[in-house]
Amino acid sequence: MSNILVTGFTGNTGQEVAKKLKVKNASILCAVRHPENALKKYGEQNYVHLDYSRHETFEPALLGIDRIFLMYPPETLLSDFHAFIHKSQEIGIRHIVYLSVKDAQRLPFIPHFKNERAIARSGIPYTFLRAGYFMQNLNLFMLDEIIKNDRIYVPAGRGKTSFTDVRDIAEIAARSLTESAAHLGKKYALTGSQAIDFYEVARTMTTIIGRPISYSQPSTQEFKTYMLAKGLESKYINVVSGIHFITKIGLAKGITDVYSNITHKQPTGIETYIKDYQASFTPEESIS
Ligand SMILES: NC(=O)c1ccc[n+]([C@@H]2O[C@H](COP(=O)([O-])OP(=O)(O)OC[C@H]3O[C@@H](n4cnc5c(N)ncnc54)[C@H](OP(=O)(O)O)[C@@H]3O)[C@@H](O)[C@H]2O)c1
Repeated sequence: MSNILVTGFTGNTGQEVAKKLKVKNASILCAVRHPENALKKYGEQNYVHLDYSRHETFEPALLGIDRIFLMYPPETLLSDFHAFIHKSQEIGIRHIVYLSVKDAQRLPFIPHFKNERAIARSGIPYTFLRAGYFMQNLNLFMLDEIIKNDRIYVPAGRGKTSFTDVRDIAEIAARSLTESAAHLGKKYALTGSQAIDFYEVARTMTTIIGRPISYSQPSTQEFKTYMLAKGLESKYINVVSGIHFITKIGLAKGITDVYSNITHKQPTGIETYIKDYQASFTPEESIS
């Protein structure tokens, strides 16, 4: 049986990819930077140590592996990440399923453009998952403002974005990894079925969680000033501002039917996502 390395196992997408692969009884290795922490948090799994900034971890992590779910942690040096791709090629990896971003092919200045090119040039057979805006951003970097100030706080103006559930992306990743032949060389633009703005998300959230949630539409400068004062790192704030600027100017609203063409199901809608994550949006003191 083939062994699949799941990178970013402790992250948003890696967790969901691992779950989907387990349902398919695939043999997986979970790549983590801190195996002892992962063991405490996620229990017994097949862990392997992988840190892109420590090249000596590459070969042991790739031992016995023939397929990889590969995600790019935004703070990683491209030279380190590309060294890992090079080592994967040397070792004879047969398939990389790479988590990219929608429209990466048109954005030569972003890391995903360069990473896709590095994978293609390595000659390793690949599938690119060019994913739309994650719904799970709401329960991750927007969560603090939702919980503490009952508001969605991002500088996206009235722009619409193609909210995409990470669980749907993980499903396509798992299918690509376990049914490789059908997905080799494919570049999938994966989105939800609807592009909506953050006013609509706030209204839907209000209805479902039963507490008024507003969307404050800060300017990019207001957002940066506020987040800096809150103690977030400026590099991270710039990445978040950049993503929402693309939404604001109307470039994130494209939707595709790739998910339903592959799965013959509709992508997860925003209502289902909010219901499934409802407990995360509720302050702890109000849970009796
Ligand atoms: N957010 C969106 O809307 C969106 C949309 C499309 C595409 N994307 C892309 O999705 C990716 C982010 O995916 P995600 O949200 O699943 O990530 P995430 O939740 O932020 O998790 C990052 C993962 O990377 C691991 N990691 C960090 N530094 C590492 C290193 N030096 N070596 C090895 N592993 C390292 C982390 O492990 P530790 O536990 O050790 O920190 C963690 O497992 C990005 O490439 C982003 O551009 C995002």
